[in-house]
Amino acid sequence: MIRLGIIGLGQRLAHMLGCFQASDPSLRVAGIVDPDPAAALARLPEDKRAGIRFFDTVADLLREGRPDALAVGTRCDLHARYGIAAAATGLPLFLEKPVATTLVDARALERAFADAAGEVVVSFPLRVSALAGMAKARLDAGAVGRLEHVLAVNYVPYGNVYFDSWYRDHGVTQGLFLQKATHDLDYIAHLVGAPIVRVAAMAQHGRVFRDKSLEPAGGDDTRAYFERIGTPETGMNEDASSALLEFANGVQGVYTQVFYTKHHGAVRGATLSGKDGTLRFDWYRNELLLHRHAEPVTELTRPPEGLNHFGGDGALADNFIAVIKGEARSASPIAAGLRSVYACLAAKESAATGRFVAVQQLTDLEAPPVSLGTDSASPIHSPAVA
Ligand SMILES: NC(=O)c1ccc[n+]([C@@H]2O[C@H](COP(=O)([O-])OP(=O)(O)OC[C@H]3O[C@@H](n4cnc5c(N)ncnc54)[C@H](O)[C@@H]3O)[C@@H](O)[C@H]2O)c1
Repeated sequence: MIRLGIIGLGQRLAHMLGCFQASDPSLRVAGIVDPDPAAALARLPEDKRAGIRFFDTVADLLREGRPDALAVGTRCDLHARYGIAAAATGLPLFLEKPVATTLVDARALERAFADAAGEVVVSFPLRVSALAGMAKARLDAGAVGRLEHVLAVNYVPYGNVYFDSWYRDHGVTQGLFLQKATHDLDYIAHLVGAPIVRVAAMAQHGRVFRDKSLEPAGGDDTRAYFERIGTPETGMNEDASSALLEFANGVQGVYTQVFYTKHHGAVRGATLSGKDGTLRFDWYRNELLLHRHAEPVTELTRPPEGLNHFGGDGALADNFIAVIKGEARSASPIAAGLRSVYACLAAKESAATGRFVAVQQLTDLEAPPVSLGTDSASPIHSPAVA
């Protein structure tokens, strides 16, 4: 039986807890730290609420709940603080993204894990999704020759959520590079097989999504009005933002995210190319296209349909359970979480200053290779590349 200690049982972690229990039905909640126990409990299925204990502090949870592993699912600005507390325990940790929202927090988190014994699974479902696994296997097998370029896009069809829920609070999210692009910059670096070293970025704010309190609705139908979303001056989430990316191995790329897209406008995926081929995939279409330049033929591959987060949540859960049991290394390690945050912080700074920004690299942490995707030691990848 696995005893999991939970810090912040919100919507996301309640969902992931279901995935953990689907992966290992013996998993039990050893205790929860959450300032709103009633709401936290209500997120659990009714038959799983009995006997759940709440604690005021992580120290109490550790002492009285005696967990075998921890999971942090608070909102973004608390991830680093609880991650640092978890590092000191040496227990396996499931840590929500972004792993930090400021450079100070990210550096402190990196230092905390420099000597930590516990393995971390960062909550990046895209990198372990079936499509990303298929793309990684083909790229590593040389399908496009030496990779030279990546173009990645995320046309988000549910962008309202960043303006009509708690995500509107820029003080918590620090904007949509950290909140959203952290996933994409992670999977892109994972596929490229090298960290991002330099970024130039731009961000559009307040052209589409506007603060209702500042202007009465109904005046301008090119705009969408929401309560308390801030202004470009006070800080607000982006309508759209983009980044030019340079990777340590010489690959270059472009990334764009757009938040007012609707319905079939949705696209999330990438085109990766080299002299010998072009590989393109889209999670919404659930397809991967590989065009080898030697002949005018395109191979189409589709993973199974209807998976949560394109199969990534189940794969993350399986990996976390295997890490707890000592059967696998993390497929989404703390190094990946930190590298992504450092790249997102560089993008944020570049968008604010109009300059290229060098990305902070890992310094304290002995980083495992970025390309864990085809590592045969990680069992979750075998179905993905089948
Ligand atoms: N990896 C993914 O694909 C993915 C998807 C959705 C959300 N997320 C991330 O998950 C996080 C949580 O999002 P959510 O929608 O579940 O939010 P939420 O508001 O539903 O959950 C946050 C929980 O943290 C609790 N909390 C608040 N202060 C706390 C404290 N000091 N100590 C402990 N617990 C505290 C709240 O009471 C709540 O239960 C966010 O950072 C979000 O970015 C990740």
